[in-house]
Amino acid sequence: MRKIIIYGSKYGTSKEYAIYLGLKTNITAVNYKDLKNINKYDTIIYVGSIYASNILGLRKTFKKLNNISYKNIYIITVGISETNNRNIDERIKSIIKKDIYDKVNVFHLNGKINYFTLNKKDKFLISLMYKILSKENNNELKKENQMILTIYKNKIDKMDFNKLIPVIDLINNKKNEVLQGF
Ligand SMILES: Cc1cc2nc3c(=O)[nH]c(=O)nc-3n(C[C@H](O)[C@H](O)[C@H](O)COP(=O)(O)O)c2cc1C
Repeated sequence: MRKIIIYGSKYGTSKEYAIYLGLKTNITAVNYKDLKNINKYDTIIYVGSIYASNILGLRKTFKKLNNISYKNIYIITVGISETNNRNIDERIKSIIKKDIYDKVNVFHLNGKINYFTLNKKDKFLISLMYKILSKENNNELKKENQMILTIYKNKIDKMDFNKLIPVIDLINNKKNEVLQGF
C-alpha cells in the first residue's frame, strides 16, 4: 500500500497540519506543486487551505487521478470561518469528479491568519471586502463574510492539532485492517 499526504498551503497552516499528520501516521507529506504522479498511491490524503471558498491546489491535483477503485481518499480543508460541513461538501463536489467525490472522507480544521504578514494582494482583497461588508448589517451577513470583518487588521489563531485525532485513527486503523487481511 503506497500512501501520500499532499498539501496546498500559502502561509504554512495546511503544511503544518500535513507534517503533523505525516509524523503520526508515518506517511510522507508533499506540496501539491511537487507531486509527480498521484496515480501510484492507494491512500491519498489532501490537506488544503480555503481561499475565497476555493480549496488551494485541489482541482489541479485531482484532475490527474484516473483509476480510483481500491483507493482510500481523504480531503481535509483548513479555513478560518466556522463553516458547516454541507458548504464544504458542496465546494468539493463542484471541484472534483463525482466518482471521486463519492469515495472521499471529508474533514474540516480551523486555521490561522495574520493580516499584517499577508502579501500585498491578499491584504488588498481583505481590506476591500472589509470596506464593502462593514457597510452592511452584521447580523445579516453570511458566516464567511463575518469572518472577513474579524480578520481585517487582526491576528487569529484557531489551529488545533487535536482535531486531527479522528483522521489519524481512521488512517492507522485502515493500516491494521490491511495487515490483518494477510
Ligand atoms: C484572501 C483570503 C481569503 C480567504 N478566504 C477564506 C474563506 O473563504 N473561508 C475560510 O474559511 N477562510 C478563508 N481564509 C483564511 C485561510 O483559509 C486561513 O488563514 C488558512 O489558515 C490559511 O492557510 P495557509 O496558511 O495554509 O495558506 C482566507 C484568507 C485570505 C488571506
